[in-house]
Amino acid sequence: MILNFSGMAHYKFIMQNINNTTWFPSSISKLDRASIKSQSPICIWLTGLSGSGKSTIANALELTMHKSGLHTYILDGDNIRHGLNSNLGFSDVDRIENIRRISEAAKIMVEAGLVVIVPVISPFREQRKIVRKLFSANEFIEVFVDTPLTECIRRDAKGLYAKALRKEIQNFTGIDSNYEQPECAEVHLDTMSDTLDCCIGKILDRYEIIIQANQ
Ligand code: ADX
Repeated sequence: MILNFSGMAHYKFIMQNINNTTWFPSSISKLDRASIKSQSPICIWLTGLSGSGKSTIANALELTMHKSGLHTYILDGDNIRHGLNSNLGFSDVDRIENIRRISEAAKIMVEAGLVVIVPVISPFREQRKIVRKLFSANEFIEVFVDTPLTECIRRDAKGLYAKALRKEIQNFTGIDSNYEQPECAEVHLDTMSDTLDCCIGKILDRYEIIIQANQ
């Protein structure tokens, strides 16, 4: 994407910050923080269309993980737009900033030793690659919540697809804004055939592989 004026101004800020601030190293590491919780910190990133089931899966996953004694938190796209990202809309530029802030918040939470679950549309493949690079291989799981657009339109739990099809809202993902499917997600959930329990099981299986690798 070509940087517009506000993109250039933002870039200037970033360079000023990098040049004029110094990272203060903490005496306590991420592993120190995680080890008193006896857990492997992880970012579980759920991408998919609006209405694909991301938040439902994230919620059921958190419930299961919490019951097994893990310290979790959900950074839900809709919820974050009520606070931290309430000044952002749904243009491509705003979505990129939305995901940048959420991914940086998730990284901080992983540094704090937590299991962070992030259900967000995150429609752009290139940006999801940038998000992945914030984490090491054993602390990031990309989950593709694969629900066909026709099914999301049929469910339309929030009534937003109907509004988008009537052109009452613009830049709606899948209608007049792009969703680029993942090509290499660690977990692929086919919500037309996988039950909720099966979806949770697939994610937990992947997390188990990471725990084994970390031991
Ligand atoms: S993202 O594209 O920037 O990753 P995010 O996950 O934060 O999106 O927010 C998506 C949610 O915002 C949807 O689940 C839906 O409830 C709501 N929403 C409102 N307007 C739009 C829109 N134009 N496109 C997609 N979702 C929208």
